[in-house]
Amino acid sequence: MFDLTINLPGSTTQITVRPGALQESGQLLRSVLPDVGNTQVMLVTDHTVGDLYAKTTLDAFRDAGVHPFEFRIPPGESSKSLDTAQQLYKSLAANQMDRDGIIVALGGGVVSDLAGFVAATWMRGIRFAILPTTLEADIDASIGGKTAVNLSTGKNLVGAFHQPVLVAVDPNCLSTLDARDVKAGIAEAIKHALISDEEFFTWQEDHVDEILCLDSAITTEFILRNLRIKAAIVEQDTKEQTGLRMLLNFGHTIGHAIESCSRYSLRHGECVALGTLAACRLSESIGLLSGADVTRVEKLLSRFGLPIQMPTALNTDRILETMQNDKKARAGRVRFVLLDAIGAPLIRDDIDESLVRAAYESLRP
Ligand SMILES: NC(=O)c1ccc[n+]([C@@H]2O[C@H](COP(=O)([O-])OP(=O)(O)OC[C@H]3O[C@@H](n4cnc5c(N)ncnc54)[C@H](O)[C@@H]3O)[C@@H](O)[C@H]2O)c1
Ligand SMILES: [Zn+2]
Repeated sequence: MFDLTINLPGSTTQITVRPGALQESGQLLRSVLPDVGNTQVMLVTDHTVGDLYAKTTLDAFRDAGVHPFEFRIPPGESSKSLDTAQQLYKSLAANQMDRDGIIVALGGGVVSDLAGFVAATWMRGIRFAILPTTLEADIDASIGGKTAVNLSTGKNLVGAFHQPVLVAVDPNCLSTLDARDVKAGIAEAIKHALISDEEFFTWQEDHVDEILCLDSAITTEFILRNLRIKAAIVEQDTKEQTGLRMLLNFGHTIGHAIESCSRYSLRHGECVALGTLAACRLSESIGLLSGADVTRVEKLLSRFGLPIQMPTALNTDRILETMQNDKKARAGRVRFVLLDAIGAPLIRDDIDESLVRAAYESLRP
């Protein structure tokens, strides 16, 4: 019934990727949580996703004897806040949610990060399942157990590790997602291939059109391959302690700085695409990645409709400062994930600032 299982100390996550998973979501939930018919269940979604998919989900739940109460949040990053979390806690209290209860997130990464954080903290942690509906959530946010809310001073500053018991991905949901959001999610898939699997990178080069038009079989395989890569990393370094999980930060050091300096006017995945290209050029400039491979990456990003040049000019000093302040900088040194070759990453914290500056400036039109 499941495609992938993540076993970690104290938790098991069952994962399935299949067109129509939403229609089967009640049965899927029942199969991992046999007691789900006898406990309180809260379904958290946002208004956009709720209008599109809550009825299908609630029908599937009802058919399986599961009767949740629903909580809808406004769509968008601003809902990933302590304020919204508090509203969820109040609803949990009003519905007498106890320790045996279950929270199900239906939506993108905003919904799953928030609902996961609330599940991690309500009564010191209750069970949690995710029905992701964006590509970003399908291949990235829904696995790994990171949950969080934002503060006005920064993103994801308050959070907890809390693994879902079930992730049921329905690739059909992507048909209603804004094409720009689909492309933004693809940036994380390119990242996954670059840090672990040259063959998957070539596979993506060979399937650009099918991925972009959301061909059902190819999209299912695409999502699953990404999940396998992230799952393998998370299994070996669940709480970001050995450095392996840091590899998932490829393209994100410069990408996050661009995201923050552009005041979030670009999609996260678009910033990751730019950060990916800059990290590849930085790798080339210190004698690692070949020029031919940098060109392959640039071409693939571009064929997927992702940016390879900065759409707006941002001050380079501010970008460098922002990177320095990033919470992932250790002892004042910015750590970069770089590539020796496609599929062969390494971490370096001794990169000359002038090279970082040049890599970022190479993105200027
Ligand atoms: N926990 C993690 O490991 C992790 C990893 C990556 C990203 N994230 C977090 O995820 C968040 C971003 O997630 P996202 O990119 O999914 O954005 P999102 O959740 O904000 O969704 C993007 C938009 O698409 C809409 N939408 C969602 N699914 C839809 C569908 N199927 N059809 C039509 N519209 C749909 C939403 O209403 C929203 O307006 C960020 O907060 C980020 O920090 C977390
Ligand atoms: Zn990312």
